[in-house]
Amino acid sequence: MLSFLMPEAASSQATDTDKIYYLLLGLSAAVILLVLALVIGFSIRFRRGSSAPRGELPAFFSREFEVGWTSATVILALFLFWWAASSQLSILVAPKDALEIHVVAKQWMWKTQHDNGVSEINELHVPINTPIRLIMASQDVIHSFFVPAFRLKRDVVPGRSNETWFNATKVGMYHLFCAEYCGTDHSRMLGRIVVMSKEDFGRWLSAQPRGDALAEQGAKIFRAQGCSGCHVTSSTVHAPDLRGIYGQTVQLVGGKTVTADEAYLRDSILMPKRDIVAGYDPIMPSYQGILNDAELDSLTAYIRSLTTGDQP
Ligand code: CUA
Repeated sequence: MLSFLMPEAASSQATDTDKIYYLLLGLSAAVILLVLALVIGFSIRFRRGSSAPRGELPAFFSREFEVGWTSATVILALFLFWWAASSQLSILVAPKDALEIHVVAKQWMWKTQHDNGVSEINELHVPINTPIRLIMASQDVIHSFFVPAFRLKRDVVPGRSNETWFNATKVGMYHLFCAEYCGTDHSRMLGRIVVMSKEDFGRWLSAQPRGDALAEQGAKIFRAQGCSGCHVTSSTVHAPDLRGIYGQTVQLVGGKTVTADEAYLRDSILMPKRDIVAGYDPIMPSYQGILNDAELDSLTAYIRSLTTGDQP
């Protein structure tokens, strides 16, 4: 449908977005045509000197017609809002069984890393018909992960981890752009997403040289940065035990509770004095400026592995 206007639609989100877009386009065109036809029709009918009746409108037009037209428009607008909003909100939360990919943006390249440690530069290979969850961080300035064929665009912001997900529906190669001006080579910060059949992807993945798995790198940083000095049960320093913490509800000083997800773990490493866990003293130093985003990703992956059991 009108495909010359749009890049190829290669994800489930793309089909949805296009439907909404074309419906809005069609509705706007219909309203414009209606108003235009009335303007032209009335200016001819009621031109100066014409004998058309100019008295009061019949009661039917001034009441029923008005009420009907107004409520129809309101219902239509609410429906559009509901449809567009639910479609947009659904890209914020990935399905539970999604494949996780870590994306690090920096001037001027995209680094992607699969769960088993295989990493790529300016490329991302994914299997078809599989939800892919992207956990994204920037090492310097704001970038934006933009794949037109997936109708997917999400800012990648330094100092926080942003998420999005997609489900590719066509085998092929698709452009990846940076859509946020990020310096001299912004326009060359390009990449490609390679969507493969599940069998091909399996073969591709097992043929890649394997870096340290993310959690394994995290375990090394955990020891090297001295985290292990306090966060073990045998330590003389009173610090929370991190085993089993991931995904749990944590009680904070002051009665608030938070869920220990990636964002919370990350914030606790960078701003340890913000959310103090009930029963502990604010003694942990901040690692702001000491750990870069890739290292923070590895660390949170390691802390998560302490709960999920796939330990290095
Ligand atoms: Cu990165 Cu523009």
